[in-house]
Amino acid sequence: MYCTRKVTDDLIWVGADDRRLPFFEGVYGVPDGVSYNSYLLLDEKTVLFDTVDKAVYGVFLENLAHELGGRPLDYLVIHHMEPDHAATLELVLQRYPETTVICNAKIKTMLAQFFPMDLSSRIQLVKEGDNFSSGRHSFSFVMAPMVHWPEVMMTYDATAKMLFTADAFGTFGALNGRLFADEVDFFSECIDEARRYYTNIVGKYGPQVQAVLKKAAKLDIDYVCPLHGFVWRSHFGDYLEKYMLWSSYVPEEKSVMIAYASVYGHTENAANILAARLCEKGVKVRMYDTSVTPASYIVSDAFRCSHLVFAATTYNAGVFVTMENLLHDIAAHNLQNRKVALIENGSWAATSGKVMSEILSGLKGIAFYDQKVSLKSALNEGQMSEIDALAQAIADELAPKPVVSASAPAAAAEVKAGDVDKKAFNKLSYGVEVLTTNADGRDYGCIINTACQVGSGDPKVVTISVIKKNHTCDMVMKAGRFNVSILTEDAPYSLFQRFGFQSGRDVDKFADVSYEDRTANGVRYIPEFTNAVLSCEVVETRELETQMLFIANVVEAKVLSSAPSCTYSYYHAHIKPKKNPAPEQKECWVCKVCGYVYEGAELPADFVCPLCKHGKDDFEHVVPNAKPKQKGYVCNICGHFEPCEGELPADYVCPLCKHGRDDFSPAEQ
Ligand code: FEO
Repeated sequence: MYCTRKVTDDLIWVGADDRRLPFFEGVYGVPDGVSYNSYLLLDEKTVLFDTVDKAVYGVFLENLAHELGGRPLDYLVIHHMEPDHAATLELVLQRYPETTVICNAKIKTMLAQFFPMDLSSRIQLVKEGDNFSSGRHSFSFVMAPMVHWPEVMMTYDATAKMLFTADAFGTFGALNGRLFADEVDFFSECIDEARRYYTNIVGKYGPQVQAVLKKAAKLDIDYVCPLHGFVWRSHFGDYLEKYMLWSSYVPEEKSVMIAYASVYGHTENAANILAARLCEKGVKVRMYDTSVTPASYIVSDAFRCSHLVFAATTYNAGVFVTMENLLHDIAAHNLQNRKVALIENGSWAATSGKVMSEILSGLKGIAFYDQKVSLKSALNEGQMSEIDALAQAIADELAPKPVVSASAPAAAAEVKAGDVDKKAFNKLSYGVEVLTTNADGRDYGCIINTACQVGSGDPKVVTISVIKKNHTCDMVMKAGRFNVSILTEDAPYSLFQRFGFQSGRDVDKFADVSYEDRTANGVRYIPEFTNAVLSCEVVETRELETQMLFIANVVEAKVLSSAPSCTYSYYHAHIKPKKNPAPEQKECWVCKVCGYVYEGAELPADFVCPLCKHGKDDFEHVVPNAKPKQKGYVCNICGHFEPCEGELPADYVCPLCKHGRDDFSPAEQ
């Protein structure tokens, strides 16, 4: 029996789940299954976007026939020829002989390779930027080579503001009846499998992913429809943010991943002791036994963590086999920009450290700690200090550093008596809170860092100040009441984006949240990633130059969790994503609060950040170094750039997609 779901009024998901597949691509375990997504558009013409794996062909064909309801299938758009999506193409094209295939030239070539049927009269070729209409819907095509094969393309439906993204933005895991990412707690339940999918399937092709993200950034997108996993119709920016990090090889978090290979437990013991020392110093540690955990999970966490420790015993005058396989896998996935520490073990001639460093040293941006711990059979008492020193060296890099430096006295001397040095205010410790209120039947909220207890008698008194241009400020004035939800250190960046980087004038910041909690005054509060809420009634206001100061009595207060409060400096050090290096950065001004970029050499004195409403003082002037352009050749297949002053050698082969010199064009970058 058919099993389908509507994406929109005229687009239907006709794909299927597979929970019996032991290994995706024959190598990646998928204990939670996988979905193969196919979408059918019922416009004036009918259009099918991709097919499915042969394992689920039965229900897929039933879904398709049911939703067509006797109509012909006019078009089949093929985005990717890998058989997990294309294995049933032949069946569909036989069953619907009137169907025209829309694809690019490389897909046409692969179609002929996989299926010996004559499709010459049934193919409509498209290339980058070509347009197509099915009636009400207008489409354009975006080439996405090497995301994940060279023939991959995407389709943008300008009518529905929908992007069909092929493998990009997919996840491992069956849908289990859910179709939209907002039907699950994606960043709690699914992000680990999304990361494992990305890093293992397309992790190697970060530059190609970046290239297609740049193209997608120009599109107005309401829906993202990948070939695996969930459809995105809200808060896609949170997921996009992860893709920006993964594809630029920027760690998601400042933490340590320890992977060890141990035959009799002595190497494991050293790894455990290092983990204990790190945890004592407040460092977050993830730990894997390479003989137990499949490599795809460890590769995935290597993309997540900033610092990696590999501990392995010597084996056959090399390194133990499970560690060797893991490191080759990490190297094959092109991981970059990590700090690495090594622990080797060998009862008579330790070689594992040398082999491990050789495998990793070819990767870009990999730096090794000088402290290599070398065990002879087992860690001895005298070597505890080496483990301590390594733990300290790692912790020193992960703990926030004091800003004061030797130049501080000189800088202080430049400030004249009576001047106000803005840097002095950075020494104050601020919390970070969500301020909420309601007025005219609507709920409002924004991020503040100004809540302060000023009276401890009865009633208790707090002050907050809010930027006057902020809509929530007007609403607090109107309502005369507000709540302050105190954020904790585990608050995700997406929460700051939701309440801090958009205006309640334009959007409902509570749309799609999974909670509806209110205090007795009827004002909403944030029950997640918070440790307390204060419910307040305004007793006095004072208008300052840019801010409105509210003095308020606390009429209700409750503790929500024991998690530590997030400070403003913790937010900057650990939650706010680090900026990705911009290869073609222009002179600009970057908002230190929300990251908004104003392009240009001069920022007007009265400029106000359109996202977070902070003024010029909160912007940092960025002047890029002008780098001379480099001559070379770009691969027409995958986009790889090979620096080269003269001719490429006749036997040159692209290191990414393995195409030869004929597929390269001269370029500068
Ligand atoms: Fe889901 Fe590259 O195939």
